Parts: sequence; structure tokens; C-alpha cells
Amino acid sequence: MAERTVDLRSDTVTRPSPGMRRAMAEARVGDDVLGDDPVVKVLEERMASLLGKEAAVFTPSGTMANLLSLLSQTKPGDEVILDRNCHIFNYEAGGASAVGGLQLHPLDGKDGFLPLERLSAALRPDNIHHPDSALITAENTHNRGAGRIYPFDQLQQVSSFARENGLRFHIDGARLANAVVATGISWGAYGALADSFNICFSKGLGAPIGSILVSDQSTITRARSWRKRLGGGMRQVGILAAAALYALDHNLERLAEDHRRASRIAAIVESNPDLTLAFPVETNIVIFRVREGARDFDRFYQNLLAEGILALAIGDRKIRLVTHLDIPDEDIDYFEEVMTRIR
Ligand SMILES: Cc1ncc(COP(=O)(O)O)c(C=O)c1O
Repeated sequence: MAERTVDLRSDTVTRPSPGMRRAMAEARVGDDVLGDDPVVKVLEERMASLLGKEAAVFTPSGTMANLLSLLSQTKPGDEVILDRNCHIFNYEAGGASAVGGLQLHPLDGKDGFLPLERLSAALRPDNIHHPDSALITAENTHNRGAGRIYPFDQLQQVSSFARENGLRFHIDGARLANAVVATGISWGAYGALADSFNICFSKGLGAPIGSILVSDQSTITRARSWRKRLGGGMRQVGILAAAALYALDHNLERLAEDHRRASRIAAIVESNPDLTLAFPVETNIVIFRVREGARDFDRFYQNLLAEGILALAIGDRKIRLVTHLDIPDEDIDYFEEVMTRIR
């Protein structure tokens, strides 16, 4: 039996704190499908105003917020341009194609970032043979890229490119909060760049469930209809919106602690000659590779688990670790100690 369990699999594993549970228990509620849950309204208005947008719609998941965005800004047969390693392309069960009849056009980005020349080449000429290029998505921070922050000037370029070419631009900001805290760039500055955003409350912000799609009023009106159609209309959901509001008030600035702890993990990994970081660590995700020939990967991974360090093996001899609000400094001390003794 391991001395302790340190769950670094994902920032989705956090448990609601006593304060958050209290806020949920005390939330006033109404029927949100009928449009009268007061706390959901507060959350939607707050997020829309934070990003400088007109409206927002609360969703059960980031997957649904991304899907609603695509469905509400395209028509069947349209093409969506995105990075090959992004969450929408890899981990959302093909929803955009299955539900929206959309064709996804993946590009080989650089660490998840879309080079302008590839975007230009991907654009379809106006011709009856081609699908319409309708929308571009970008992911900030980038999950598969170890939480890297999309460089702001590059996002600006994608934004201008989309506008100049009449395409919509969606940012999957499941972890935009991490980017805001790490860079000091405001929500509003990010908000000005894209037509729509998915923001998740159930990642580093520590709510048990919930994401939000933020955009202009007509997109959100269509998204509400899609949400209902997909069975995502929720009733006395103020108890969940209360958790999200609590997360914004109490768990936003502290993301800097997760980033500091992830940097500590990165330093521990870097000090081990058998391991190598797959990406620079900029926020709360660390991905490292066990060097070929240095160690038996499966044995190393199993030994980590046996010591209570829960991590994800993500293929290609890579391991992912994510810091979050249930990981204190002592857990990183324990990780350091385990790393000195396992093979
Ligand atoms: C970048 C990104 N987008 C979207 C999602 C989807 O969120 P959910 O798990 O709430 O559907 C995730 C989940 O990890 C993610 O990392």
C-alpha cells in the first residue's frame, strides 16, 4: 500500500471544497429551461461581460459547448479548420461530423498553433466542387501540448485571417483561465479576438461540472436551441452555476500555485537523465518521455502507480501529470522522493 495517493491524472479530478458545497446548497434556483434560474443568469451575464460579448449559455460539459459553437455557426457540409492535435478533433467523439454534418479539416500545427501559411493553403476557393470554409478553431491552453499558451500575437493573426476571409473563429478555452492567470492578458483582450469561446469550470477552476459558451446574441440563441435538441436543457441548475461562480471568486488567482507546482515537477523530471520533457511547461500540465533504452517504460509507469502517483500513460513512452487545487506542495515533495527511488 502506497504511503499516499497523489492524483495527477487530470485537473478534472478535484472535489468541491466545503465552501463550494455550501454555495451550491444555498443557491436560489428556478427552471433554467424556462429561463428563470437566477444564478445561471448571473453566471451567463458575468462570463459574457468578462469576455466583452453579448451573451452566454451554460452547458454540462466543454464538449457540448464546443459542439454548440460549431453547430450554431455553420451549416451541414461546411468545413471547420483546426489543429490535428486539438481536443475537438481527437476527444469529442466525432460530434461535429455526427451531429452537424461538418467536415473537419485538420492542419499540422506547430505545437498546436496554426501557422498562417497553412491556414491560407487550407482555405477553399469559391467553387461548387468545394465545401465552404466556415470556421477556424484554436485551443488555448493546448491540452495535448502540455498546457502551452497560444502566443497572443499568433492568435491575433488567426483572428485577422478569419475576419478578412469571412470565417468565424472559435476558441476552445477549456483552460483559458490558466492562460489569463499565467500571462496577465485580460479575459477581454482574449475575448476581442474570437467570435465564440468555450470556458470550462470543471478543470483547474475546480467545479464539479459545467462549461459555458460565450458569443454574440444570435449565435447564443441558436446554441440554446441546439442545447435543447441535444437533451442539454437543465432545470434547477443554479446549484451548478453557484459552483462555477464560487470557482471564479475563489479559485482563479490560485491557478498560479498550480503553475508553480507544475514547474517544480518539470524541474524534478529535467534533473533525471532518463527522462525528458516533451514540451516546455507553461501552465499546469507536464508531459514527459521516458528515454528509449534508459528504462523499461511499463515497469517505470507501474512503479509510479504502485507508489500512489496517479498519472496517465499517453502513448509513445509519454506520461502526463496535471496539477490542480487538491495537490499541495507536500504532494510534490512526495513525488520528488518517489522519483529518486523508483526504477
Ligand atoms: C481543451 C479541451 N477542450 C474541451 C474539453 C472537454 O471538456 P469536457 O470534458 O467537459 O467535455 C477538454 C477536456 O479535458 C479539454 O481539455
